[in-house]
Amino acid sequence: MQFPAPDTPDRPLTELLPADALADAPPPLPELAEPDVVRHFTNLSTLNMSVDTHFYPLGSCTMKYNPKRNERLASLPGFLDVHPLQPDETVQGLLRLLYDLQGMLAEIAGLPGVSLQPAAGAHGELTALMVAAAHFRDRGEKRTVVLTPDSAHGTNPASAAMAGFDAVTIKSNAHGLVDMDDLKAKLSDRVAVFMITNPNTLGLFDPQVGQIAELVHEVGGLIYLDGANMNAILGKARPGDFGADMMHFNPHKTFSGPHGGGGPGAGPICVAERLTPYLPCPVVVKDGETYRLDYDRPKSIGRVRSFFGNVGVLIRAYAYIRTHGAEGLRRVSENAVLNANYLLSKVRHFLPTPHGNRCMHEFVATASKLKKEKGISAMDVAKRLLDFGFHAPTVYFPLTVPESMMIEPTETESKETLDAFAQALFHITGETGEMLHDAPHSTIISRPDEVQAAKKPRLRWTNE
Ligand SMILES: Cc1ncc(COP(=O)(O)O)c(C=O)c1O
Repeated sequence: MQFPAPDTPDRPLTELLPADALADAPPPLPELAEPDVVRHFTNLSTLNMSVDTHFYPLGSCTMKYNPKRNERLASLPGFLDVHPLQPDETVQGLLRLLYDLQGMLAEIAGLPGVSLQPAAGAHGELTALMVAAAHFRDRGEKRTVVLTPDSAHGTNPASAAMAGFDAVTIKSNAHGLVDMDDLKAKLSDRVAVFMITNPNTLGLFDPQVGQIAELVHEVGGLIYLDGANMNAILGKARPGDFGADMMHFNPHKTFSGPHGGGGPGAGPICVAERLTPYLPCPVVVKDGETYRLDYDRPKSIGRVRSFFGNVGVLIRAYAYIRTHGAEGLRRVSENAVLNANYLLSKVRHFLPTPHGNRCMHEFVATASKLKKEKGISAMDVAKRLLDFGFHAPTVYFPLTVPESMMIEPTETESKETLDAFAQALFHITGETGEMLHDAPHSTIISRPDEVQAAKKPRLRWTNE
């Protein structure tokens, strides 16, 4: 095929573009053969750790194995080839899947209103707080404060601030649970929402949650449940039943979606009946046997994400939930809690675990004794684990425990893997500072400046 000759006058580029938009010379693009490029990227891909290659006990992130079956299902042409602007009647299958997923999440949460739009847990927090703000505005109530415990994930107070609230911190007590006196002192008719993570980031289920909900509801506030740790309580306890009015799920944690370098993720939210009018629009509804996107929601806060949300992650979550069924999901949580307690029972003999001998799906150990006695930090231990073929646990979070190491094995790991990890950790705690301060010794890069690496990544090829 040939393009027709242009019917516009031929003018030099220098006349058409400003001087600073013109290059002096062709860009110095690399001249490489395909095998060189393929080898470069294939080798690069093996330098990182992933759940497919290594045990990844990154507390709070729930790095469970992502079944390949879910990948295959999300890649079916009927899902993959759908265009987001297709009319509803041509995407009935996909809309049905999303509608059913809304129902399943509502059932697991014990909260009937669902929006699948938010693109991450933090985005779900922000969306739910915007829903709460719309609810209070509608009622003519001026509520300016969102309470978050000091063990909360940083996204909680950040979301509160982004939604226009003042974030106020509630202290934890000596057991790592909400300090009820501090909570009572900070409750008032200015409080819009109390954001609680339960089980919390110390891996503890706060049994006071019912009482907390009563107190917050008494002053007219709402309870938000940060659902990042739902892997511990699937089919065991429903946030709506223990007092939550709103929550988010992290499907990439709880329902085994891949964690993809910051995205794409999803953070669907569930809310109580009285908050449903404010949910983002559209939501998927069913009229008789037909599914459609409902935009006719006058009180909605509007869109928070384009199109249907990150559908690929939602399909994986749907596949995961349907594969396990209700009983299977309960067993997921039982095994996650069992694995964490098994590992805790081994680790506590050589690394103190300040919040006791029992946990939910994760636990927090501390390297502060090692630091005091041998100058070895949590970071040293975490880095050295890479030499033994294990990804590090989360370190220095939660902030309430000094030199913290938050370990979450998840339910998909075998006893052999947990034993090997505990053995490696035990070995490392007996090593010298000399060995540990420069660890890891077996990786291509040892200790990059992590802040610079994240903020100024060098992603471009240069021939320097
Ligand atoms: C307790 C807790 N809350 C919220 C979030 C935020 O979730 P996301 O990373 O999906 O934005 C995380 C993420 O790790 C978390 O651990």
